[in-house]
Amino acid sequence: MYRTHHCNELRESDAGKTATLVGWVNTKRDHHGVIFIDIRDREGVTQCVFRSEENAEAAELSHSLRAEDVVQVTGRVDLRPEIEGQSTVNKEIETGEIEIVAAELKVLNKSEVLPFQLDKELSNEDLRMTHRYLDLRRPRMANNLRVRHQITKAIRDILDEDGYLEIETPVLSKSTPEGARDFLVPSRLNPGKFYALPQAPQQYKQLLMVAGVERYFQIARCFRDEDLRADRQPEFTQVDIEASFVTEEDIYATIESLLAKVFKTARGVDVPTPFPRITHQEAMDKYGSDKPERRIGCEIVDLSEHFKDSGFGVFKRAIENGGVVRAINVKGFAGVSTGQVKRLEEVAKEAGAGGLAYIQVRGATHDTWRSPIVKFFSEEELAAIEKELDIEEGDLILFGCDNWKTVCEVLGRLRLECCEMNNWLEGKEDELDFFWVIDFPLLDYDEEEGKWNAVHHPFTRPHPEDVALLDDESQWDKIRGAAYDVVLNGNELGGGSLRIHEGDLQAKMFSVLGIDEEEQAENFGHILGAFQFGAPPHGGIALGLDRLVMLACKEESIREVIAFPKNNKGVDLMSSSPAEVDFKQLRELYVKSTVQDKKE
Ligand code: AMO
Ligand code: AMP
Repeated sequence: MYRTHHCNELRESDAGKTATLVGWVNTKRDHHGVIFIDIRDREGVTQCVFRSEENAEAAELSHSLRAEDVVQVTGRVDLRPEIEGQSTVNKEIETGEIEIVAAELKVLNKSEVLPFQLDKELSNEDLRMTHRYLDLRRPRMANNLRVRHQITKAIRDILDEDGYLEIETPVLSKSTPEGARDFLVPSRLNPGKFYALPQAPQQYKQLLMVAGVERYFQIARCFRDEDLRADRQPEFTQVDIEASFVTEEDIYATIESLLAKVFKTARGVDVPTPFPRITHQEAMDKYGSDKPERRIGCEIVDLSEHFKDSGFGVFKRAIENGGVVRAINVKGFAGVSTGQVKRLEEVAKEAGAGGLAYIQVRGATHDTWRSPIVKFFSEEELAAIEKELDIEEGDLILFGCDNWKTVCEVLGRLRLECCEMNNWLEGKEDELDFFWVIDFPLLDYDEEEGKWNAVHHPFTRPHPEDVALLDDESQWDKIRGAAYDVVLNGNELGGGSLRIHEGDLQAKMFSVLGIDEEEQAENFGHILGAFQFGAPPHGGIALGLDRLVMLACKEESIREVIAFPKNNKGVDLMSSSPAEVDFKQLRELYVKSTVQDKKE
């Protein structure tokens, strides 16, 4: 037996007992030859004192200890003494009432000097990733892993109680259109053929519904080869859910109660249910995003009506071309610096704007407004925007003029950038804004590809009132999908839909997406076939577990809640993966590398 107690266990009432602890040397202090070691395990820390009166040999050995050595200490539990009338109790730690007076010390393993200190935040993320096993020793990271476990366990328990069966689906699977690129795995036994790693278990879970499972869930690993960000990893985890004979309302209720219980478990807070719902149209119009951050106000205002005949050509033309003129009032930000204006301009252009028109409202009268464009505005126009935008001295007005979609994107991004510049979210960490975005469009026209794509995925059911519109391409942009996203504080936590369960409707949907019959048979024959044999009505959702844990832990990146994440280039710096492979391995897989050809 290595230990009698863990390092966060001994209390006042244990005084007088003999205890053995194991762990890492957290800190070492030398007070006139008396050595104090804080020994740490995953539960916490306990102070051990080494005095030569108790055991000269152990005291001698304690001098040689270094941070992160692994030690075993046995000794008597003592109350911390008073020294010169002063208590030495440490209120910062839970074992602060006591200390171990060490009688024995065994060094179980020595540690080299660490590449970074564990008690300081480190901005060099590459260094953290390279030594992730050390990074995970920090209490914050250890706690994140623990919360992730608690959340996963709570989810399993809740869904089990609700009659959901946890079923694993293949990782070596077939390409399925979830919108990202696939990771491919060559098959040695089937030369020239490839498995695709699942972007989501979408088709398998639907086939489980055809199989009569009725309620399925899986804590599922998903793989998507896409550009990475703070909330995106190439492999991530979904809480994947599917059920038969359900309506949207059933799914909303299940997820609301699940998320409420998760936040109760992880943060001890009561999340009010049901969650509010907003339509996709409203989310885009007001916030320029389908996953809006609603805690910061600053809503988008439409001004098109007032600029139809404007003397400012840029606005007038945008409206003539069927576009819109909209603006946000960034309250109190008239003092924006030149550098910040430049940055906002960059953001606007990245989002697709031709430029950025703005007004710095320096004073009460229009002649004090600093702006490259107000000189083109009539008094009526000025009065109109003043009223619509509720302009006051000190405000900054940012405009967008273009087609509806671009203006949403531009003002949506500017809004978030201004939030960041002004720290609007400071102090709002405990405000949890859960809501549903509903009535997503079913289809989206991609100008570049010249074709229609599914907004959610091709298995999503059209809204029952809009099914007939599938017969008229001019109406396709008006079809709503029976799809929904659940959003928390501007993060898309999850998304799902009711599915098509009729073979002919599914085939029609594939045709709309430009997938011809031959391709349908080749790539989707299994699901179209399955739908011929009594597929039940069904629907589901997938929650991003990494994002859920990130938000529960108040972290800003999912990398902070994944044990071994990849960096922004998809590299695991600790194991140096991906790596080159032996030519022989490639030959066995019938794969020829064309890296050289590509370089030339
Ligand atoms: P969707 O593609 O919306 O739906 O994914 C569901 C949720 O998974 C999370 N997520 C990610 N998390 C981290 N890194 C990524 N690269 C990443 N991509 C997605 C998000 C997202 O809301 N099969 C459908 C679900 C369904 O219809 O039931 C699907 O995968 O939190
Ligand atoms: P111009 O008349 O091109 O000099 O533009 C006058 C102002 O309008 C400048 O501040 C531009 O940045 C801005 N502007 C020009 N095009 C657009 C656009 N498409 N969207 C928003 N602002 C624009």
